[in-house]
Amino acid sequence: MYRDPVESHASLTPLASREQRPSTRALRVGMIGIGTVGSGTFRVLARNHAEIAARAGRSIELVIVAARNLTRASSIVGPDLPLTDDPMQVATHPDVDVVVEVAGGTGPARDWVLAAIAHGKHVVTANKALLAVHGEEIFAAARVQGVVVAYEGAVAVSIPIVKALREGLAANRIEWVAGIINGTTNFILSKMRDEGLDFAVALAQAQALGYAEADPTFDIDGIDAAHKLSLLAANAFGMPLRFADAQIEGIAQLKAIDVACAEQLGFRIKLLGVARRQAQGVELRVQPALIPATHLMANVHGAMNAVMVKADAAGVTLYYGAGAGSEQTASAVIADLVDVARLDGADAARQVPHLGVHAHATNDLPVLPRAAVSTPHFLRVPVRSASGIQRVAACLAEQQVPVRQVALAARCEGADPQVLVLTGPAAQGVLDLAAHALQSLAEVSGGVTSLRVEELAA
Ligand SMILES: NC(=O)c1ccc[n+]([C@@H]2O[C@H](COP(=O)([O-])OP(=O)(O)OC[C@H]3O[C@@H](n4cnc5c(N)ncnc54)[C@H](OP(=O)(O)O)[C@@H]3O)[C@@H](O)[C@H]2O)c1
Repeated sequence: MYRDPVESHASLTPLASREQRPSTRALRVGMIGIGTVGSGTFRVLARNHAEIAARAGRSIELVIVAARNLTRASSIVGPDLPLTDDPMQVATHPDVDVVVEVAGGTGPARDWVLAAIAHGKHVVTANKALLAVHGEEIFAAARVQGVVVAYEGAVAVSIPIVKALREGLAANRIEWVAGIINGTTNFILSKMRDEGLDFAVALAQAQALGYAEADPTFDIDGIDAAHKLSLLAANAFGMPLRFADAQIEGIAQLKAIDVACAEQLGFRIKLLGVARRQAQGVELRVQPALIPATHLMANVHGAMNAVMVKADAAGVTLYYGAGAGSEQTASAVIADLVDVARLDGADAARQVPHLGVHAHATNDLPVLPRAAVSTPHFLRVPVRSASGIQRVAACLAEQQVPVRQVALAARCEGADPQVLVLTGPAAQGVLDLAAHALQSLAEVSGGVTSLRVEELAA
């Protein structure tokens, strides 16, 4: 007998007490935060009000904004919009249908968002840290209340990748997702390659130009990219948010010589987030990785972002766009608001597009341990003399590491000779042992660099 899937999920039914909202009146928005993203959202909503209303089928109106510095906030929004320095007032405001959280952080923001949901309000946020850390709790609360939590701006800023995964690629089984999803590190790596700079110099330039924060830890340590990757994986594979299990390596250890030597073998180094479905689980990792220089992903420069998706029917698709920015992020925030405006009042389980109440975690896939993940690798081994190349090759053979190419670096500029190795696919555990064995050779004169190679083949 056919059973209505909605009726079989009582928990998805909106609260009986929730007001049925007529879909023709304005969607009333309360916004927490009027900084980079919030001010962009305010400007774009004002500038494109008619187009946005036409697409949403109703007007979208800001009714209250929270900030700490109300003088500054007033200089952005003008005298007519009510302001408060208490975000809870926005989260619980009786005239607000949807709360836009663009303040950032994981502590108070969690409380505001949970309060908004408890009051039957939809939530739109660009806060990837909040969702990576507290997402499961927030999405569970939203499911109970039958409200939407939308977060396109939290994943890849201007690139509508959540929509692409949930809607455009809805027919597909996703095999892997690989992304350059942190503009700051991509800017730094581009500077290192283009100008031969060391990491610290490139970082200082990024800070001076406003591409990196005064405290750049979240970006350069790969944490921001891992926040976004865990959201991508949840959407791609229908798995829970597994940020805590992700393997995360940043770019602070990279040297100009690594970038130059990778280039000699025909590769570029990018900070790559990879989520790949395997039989036993999911690879979930953020690492600096070598990509063939001719690959489209290797040619994503500066602060730009790109996400590549391999799907079983569609094949490989690539999405490219700005990795940060006021109106760039506002574009995604407002797109989520338009979806909420279209869906508000509709039964959560019937909502198309599938803002739903999060990709239901139907696949409780474990994250594979680091040692088990197999890819080709690049090794840079400083040696006392060029003849050390033979000992390096022999050592890798002893360690049963398949080798595709061994070469001496063309130019070392004052450094010892460098042996460059491109291996075949090898588990990280095997590579770690081999790197350790190389490090203890008398012929080796300095630290061995080991980086993954991602071929991103179709
Ligand atoms: N910037 C980007 O390009 C970008 C891109 C994608 C996602 N995001 C995410 O979007 C969120 C916002 O980023 P942003 O760059 O717009 O930050 P921001 O420029 O620092 O703005 C934060 C805003 O939130 C307000 N705020 C913070 N804590 C508050 C509190 N306790 N009470 C009241 N107001 C508070 C601030 O008020 P005051 O100014 O008065 O202190 C400010 O208006 C973050 O989660 C970020 O990760 C940003």
